[in-house]
Order: sequence, then structure tokens, then C-alpha cells
Amino acid sequence: MTKANVLEALSTTHKIAIIGAGKVGTTFAYALMLEGLTGEIVLIDRDKERTEGEVMDLNHAVPLSNPVRIWNGDYPDVAGANIVVISAGSAQRPDETRLDLLKRNIAIFRQILPQVLKYNNEAILLIATNPVDVLSYATWKLTGLPAQRVIGSGTVLDTARFRSMISQRFSLDARNVHAFIVGEHGDSEVAIWSSANIAGIPLLDFCQQVGCEISAEDRVKMANDVRNAAYEIIKRKGATFYAVGVGLARIVESILRDQHSVLSVSNRVPGFYGIEDVYLSLPAIVGADGVERILKLNLDEGETAALQNSAQVMHGIIEQLDI
Ligand code: 2OP
Repeated sequence: MTKANVLEALSTTHKIAIIGAGKVGTTFAYALMLEGLTGEIVLIDRDKERTEGEVMDLNHAVPLSNPVRIWNGDYPDVAGANIVVISAGSAQRPDETRLDLLKRNIAIFRQILPQVLKYNNEAILLIATNPVDVLSYATWKLTGLPAQRVIGSGTVLDTARFRSMISQRFSLDARNVHAFIVGEHGDSEVAIWSSANIAGIPLLDFCQQVGCEISAEDRVKMANDVRNAAYEIIKRKGATFYAVGVGLARIVESILRDQHSVLSVSNRVPGFYGIEDVYLSLPAIVGADGVERILKLNLDEGETAALQNSAQVMHGIIEQLDI
């Protein structure tokens, strides 16, 4: 058997369960299907009729893409799933604070998690619902699963936005841009410029070499643009789902294919920078066992302080929760 055959045979045995078949859950299913990563995708949602429509629509693309069984299921169908992705939850209502939203989504998670564990306590749980860091922490606490197997999509999306913006600015292939957004997936996130590089060349050296400029003001503006990207998209089209759907598929790919990719997922920080007992994003090695190792970036003073502040913000929220 060639390596390609082996991977193909493996992929047909993988099963992904998606809880929450809204825009994010279904776009993720679509990305999974196009990438041929898995043999089975089960969508689970309270709204069975709409989910049936989504499943029909997705299935009609199967003959044109990759063989995969996509179906409308229920909690018992999480049995045997390698990864359970949770994208269920409600959106923020007018006049509602983030904490109110969080309390409502935690109540939803309190209903979902026992059902998942009842039928499958071996899967990796991948959380996409916002606020993703706190909900990932709550999932870890409420399930008692090892943190390695409870992963938040974290700043994988923000890091992609950052790389995309840097690549556009310098007319480069975004895959050659290496730069991370760390911390909260949200307002306190931190852009790491100190280790940003183009194919291994520090960004400032690259600029010197090719004669481009990136001032301190430019950097502040770019970091703000990344931070505000979701607000800007939601203002224009009501929701964000393409990039996060592909980001989830990228995390799943690294797990199913044991790629050991370095991705800025949200996980329990192991005491780096004096930060503990909180879920935040840092670059992490992601493989078949989930988060296999969290990596410590050499941050400058300002970045360290900003990351510690992000952790404080998370602690402040967690303390108000009854978990
Ligand atoms: C995003 O950043 C809203 O978390 C979502 O696109």
C-alpha cells in the first residue's frame, strides 16, 4: 500500500461529531468534506428539520468532492467519534453583556457535556463556541477530562487573520508568514511581533532587505485590525464562519493525521509567564493525542505584560462562574 492509500483508508475510518449545526458547524462540515479528512460526519442539533436540510445539501456535494457519510444524528451517535466538535450556543442579544452570554452558553454546555460523556469519553473535544477560552476551561472542569483532550479553537483564527494581513501588506504567500496572536480569543489578545518572521527571516530584517517599512504605528494598527476583524465582519454580514470553519478543519487534520502541527489553540497554560489555571492560546504541538506540548515563546516585556493581562481578564471571568 502506498502512503496515499494508507491515508485514504485511515480517513474513511474517522468519525467526527459536530454538536451545533449553525453557520460555524456546517461550514466546518463543508471544509471537512472538501478536504476528504474523514469517512463520517454526524451533525447534532436541536433544530432537526434545518439540520436535515443542511445534511441534504452537503450530501449532494459528495459525488463532486470526497466520499463521506454525512448524517443528521442525536447524542448516542457521538459513540465512536474520534473528535467531538462543539459549536452550539446562542449569540449575544441586544443589551446583553458578554458575561450574560457566557452564563447562557455554560447552561447549554451543562446539558450537552453529560450527553457527550455518556456515549463517548474517549474522544478529543474541540470547542468553538464563544467565549471560547472560558467555555473550553469550563468544559475541562465539568468533564474532568485531561486538558490535552479538551481544546479550544482559540486564536487559530486570529493568527490566520494576522498572517493574512502581513502577507497582503508585503505581497507574500501567507504560508511563508510566521507570526502568532496569543492570549484570549477576544479583546485582550496579543500580537507577537518580536518573533514574527518571513520564512525564518525576522520581520524587521526582511523589511530592511527588501526596502519596506513597518512603523510602530503600523504595527499597532494591524494588531487592532486583527482584534476588530470579527466586529467588522459581523457588522457587514452578520456572522463569521468561513475562516473559523477552515481553522477547525486544520486542527482536526493535525489530530487525525498526527501531524504535530504548531497551532495557536486554546489550552491550559502550564505555568508559563506566571500564568496558571486558565485556558488561553499559545503555540502548541497538536497531534493524535490532542495538545501534545505547549510551546513557550520568548516574549518581550510588553508582550509578556499584555499576555499576563489577558490571563487576568480570563481569571476575572472564571471567578464569577459557578464551575
Ligand atoms: C470570530 O472571531 C466571532 O469568534 C468569532 O470571527
